[in-house]
Amino acid sequence: MATVLITGTNKGVGLELTKIYAGRGDRVYAACRDPESATDLKAVEGDVHPIKVVVGDTASVTQMAEKLAGVAIDMVINNAGMAGPAFDQQNTYAMDYDGWAETFNVNSIGPVRVLQALIPNLRLAEAGKVMTVTSQMGALSFEMIAAHAYCASKAAVNKFMRMASVDLKKEGIAVGLVHPGWVQTDMGGPRADLTPRESADGVAAVSDALTIENTGGFWKWNGESHDW
Ligand SMILES: NC(=O)c1ccc[n+]([C@@H]2O[C@H](COP(=O)([O-])OP(=O)(O)OC[C@H]3O[C@@H](n4cnc5c(N)ncnc54)[C@H](OP(=O)(O)O)[C@@H]3O)[C@@H](O)[C@H]2O)c1
Repeated sequence: MATVLITGTNKGVGLELTKIYAGRGDRVYAACRDPESATDLKAVEGDVHPIKVVVGDTASVTQMAEKLAGVAIDMVINNAGMAGPAFDQQNTYAMDYDGWAETFNVNSIGPVRVLQALIPNLRLAEAGKVMTVTSQMGALSFEMIAAHAYCASKAAVNKFMRMASVDLKKEGIAVGLVHPGWVQTDMGGPRADLTPRESADGVAAVSDALTIENTGGFWKWNGESHDW
């Protein structure tokens, strides 16, 4: 039995990840912005502990970590993320700069806040690890013509987590990145390829396979390596 902390658990991929780990008998700290109103999350059976966190707010992440002081956490899954401004406001010719900054704050800095705040908890685990749900849209190798702010935010988190993997390897903590596929969520829309469950099954398998030996990797939900 493991202890897992997942962000963005009120819906989408994060909610399905919560169901998967709780279904195995793991303890899940299910972090989201508003646990009170997270009806679907509250209905998940098992050892599930909804916990409030606003990943874009340092004080909120610190408060979450304070509540978890002394708890060994085997795995953190940074899943919360946002799409950013409307596509006609995040491109080469037009940019909602405040929206881009918020997208960076949530998608790039949020996972770092959570990782840093929970390092003491990861140290208490036998083999702590951190998986961040990124996107193929953040890969420099993946040609994109839209969503410039979102793409840049995911590229930034990819680079940071790759660097964190080198630093934390010395402590035995593994760090990885996973592209969850194109998923039928509020973010991905109804025409996407994968159901949230299909995506989450893949993300969970890739996360389970993350070890100190393959730390620093970037994978697709189906287990294939992702080009940077
Ligand atoms: N769907 C896709 O096709 C796709 C493709 C590639 C990568 N991804 C990535 O997969 C992850 C999960 O996305 P999803 O598809 O499950 O999307 P989703 O259903 O829209 O869920 C997004 C989650 O992130 C949280 N979130 C959104 N904005 C936030 C903010 N400003 N501050 C804190 N939390 C915020 C949401 O909480 P609230 O309900 O409180 O807003 C929700 O829990 C994201 O990192 C996303 O970038 C998704």
